[in-house]
Amino acid sequence: MEDWRSNIRSIAPYVPGEQPKDRDIIKLNTNESPYPPSPMVKKALRDLDTDTLRLYPDFVCSKLKRLLAEQCRGEEDEVFLGNGSDEVLALSFMTFFNSKKPVLFPDITYSFYDVWCSLFGIDYKRVPLGDDFRIKKEDYFGENGGIVIANPNAPTAIYMENGDIEDIINKNSSSIIIVDEAYIDFGGQSIAPLIHKYDNLVVVRTYSKSRDLAGIRLGYAFASRPLIRALEAVKNSFNSYTVSTASRLAAEAAAEDTDYFEMCRKKIIKTRENTVRELEELGFETLPSSANFIFTTHKDIRAEELFNYLKENKIYVRYFKKPRIDNYLRITIGTEEQMRALLDAVRRYLR
Ligand SMILES: Cc1ncc(COP(=O)(O)O)c(C=O)c1O
Repeated sequence: MEDWRSNIRSIAPYVPGEQPKDRDIIKLNTNESPYPPSPMVKKALRDLDTDTLRLYPDFVCSKLKRLLAEQCRGEEDEVFLGNGSDEVLALSFMTFFNSKKPVLFPDITYSFYDVWCSLFGIDYKRVPLGDDFRIKKEDYFGENGGIVIANPNAPTAIYMENGDIEDIINKNSSSIIIVDEAYIDFGGQSIAPLIHKYDNLVVVRTYSKSRDLAGIRLGYAFASRPLIRALEAVKNSFNSYTVSTASRLAAEAAAEDTDYFEMCRKKIIKTRENTVRELEELGFETLPSSANFIFTTHKDIRAEELFNYLKENKIYVRYFKKPRIDNYLRITIGTEEQMRALLDAVRRYLR
């Protein structure tokens, strides 16, 4: 007789960074924004008519889609919404990667990609980054069942020029190319307007980083209409109501407050540049960052030991015990004050 245990799906899941309860901890481990959301978001949530929560949320979200579509100079029906970009990406893998050929992504990238491939039974191949940790576009010119590129990449923080991504798209007219732009607002230029030129391009973005709203779980994608329709069909075969009423209202308010968005984004870029410079004076080498985090190493220090020392001192950063990157730390850019505390702790460690 069959044992029920053999019917349980077994999978090695993605492991997110810690979310400690202690408010004293300086949290530089999950690339959240150190700044609160726009005051307009606070107002929108205060004004929320709780009686409406009796009802299922609006699953069309026309206003929010129209606001977001401005980012790609597009229309409402070229936008897809989801519960965080993780969900948007997962549904995109499920929808677009149904080929027998392997999906390609870098060997060092967001570690959820291979988890989704395993979950959905998608064949995949990790393509090694160059020695400088950059993506080599030529490696993506061969046959494949789809391509995923995080731009800027994580955890390296390195940005790839859109012209190079376009070369990849041009060599792959029979695959769908997903560009994960979770960190694009911190120094890169979005490729989203090119969805009007390439009907096999999907650009995924999030409210969790530059919009200061990781807690509302709002992600979105831009793509040609047939791709958006395909995504909607898969989503509606899974869960129709992925964006809650509160999330929609908060997201609309944040999208309207472009001044606040610009101010936070610029502060983070400035703090990043200061931090990189000070770390360099202490002997660290940091990969060129276009993100709200940096990836840094020191030839005389074991990254894992520094990670543990910082943790003991209530500063959480991220360490990956993986080939090629096991002597690097990924550090989220916090406020100026938080980064001063980090640098002071690093100086104490070096002494
Ligand atoms: C490259 C990348 N993509 C996507 C995500 C998921 O973001 P969220 O689900 O919060 O939108 C992250 C989160 O850290 C990320 O680093």
